[in-house]
Amino acid sequence: MNPNPSAPVIEVKNLTCGYGETVVLQDVSFVVHPREVLLVIGGSGCGKSTLLRCLIGLLKPFQGDVAHFGRSFTAADATQRREILKTFGVLYQNNALWSSMTLAENVSLPLEEHTSLSRADREEIVTLKLNEVGLSGSEKLYPSELSGGMKKRAALARALALDPEIVFFDEPSEGLDPITSREMDRLILQVRDILGTTMVIVSHQLSSIFRLADRVIMLDPKTKGIIAEGKPKELAANSKDPRVRDFLNQDTDSAKPTSRTPEVATEVHSP
Ligand SMILES: Nc1ncnc2c1ncn2[C@@H]1O[C@H](COP(=O)(O)OP(=O)(O)O)[C@@H](O)[C@H]1O
Ligand SMILES: [Mg+2]
Repeated sequence: MNPNPSAPVIEVKNLTCGYGETVVLQDVSFVVHPREVLLVIGGSGCGKSTLLRCLIGLLKPFQGDVAHFGRSFTAADATQRREILKTFGVLYQNNALWSSMTLAENVSLPLEEHTSLSRADREEIVTLKLNEVGLSGSEKLYPSELSGGMKKRAALARALALDPEIVFFDEPSEGLDPITSREMDRLILQVRDILGTTMVIVSHQLSSIFRLADRVIMLDPKTKGIIAEGKPKELAANSKDPRVRDFLNQDTDSAKPTSRTPEVATEVHSP
């Protein structure tokens, strides 16, 4: 897929985007490296979800470009766009699971849409993917029968269905209690370690940011762009920008990882 293993997975160049007449992000540039867990952070309304929509091709930029593996998303025709869409998975903020479908049917959807695999092959992959996220044997359950944490796992199984190079997450720990949130973060890191998937994660939850991020980019609504980029611990300690220090040093109960992190019995198997 990626001929140069150290070349950026995603390249965002001078991106300006928003809605109607309103500019949300102006002249934003950054890259995402292979296998890294990049967190897009910042307070509510700073444009994190908007940026994510541009990265996955749901929102057309006013200006600038988003390229996946050197292929410009913004300039792609319908066929090229479809090719790019096949290479990543998305975990939406509300999980976006179809309530009238079983988990197996939900996870199978991308396979039906993007491959010509037989029913038996699809079922095999569904079982494997549910296994990878710790939901073995849940094929016949409906989303309404799942806890919040299980719904997130199911959505991740669907995002992984096509063995994507990249998975995008919008607030993966939103609505989860601290322990379930920690389990989800662990699962994300396991998937990255075992499958080598690059992770781009939008989050405003400090505990997850510190646990997950190899690197963060922080957005600010006034600047309409990136005000900090780096490792969260280093930025929290050394950033000269008080907005960055204040955000990363908020005093919340679950803000910092504790030494009492419970082990989570989740197994991820390589395909
Ligand atoms: N569909 C939309 N139409 C118009 N404005 C929007 C839309 N979605 C978000 N916005 C506005 O864009 C800004 C950034 O929103 P968003 O990207 O959702 O922020 P975040 O995800 O960081 O909380 C906010 O001012 C929000 O009100
Ligand atoms: Mg958002």
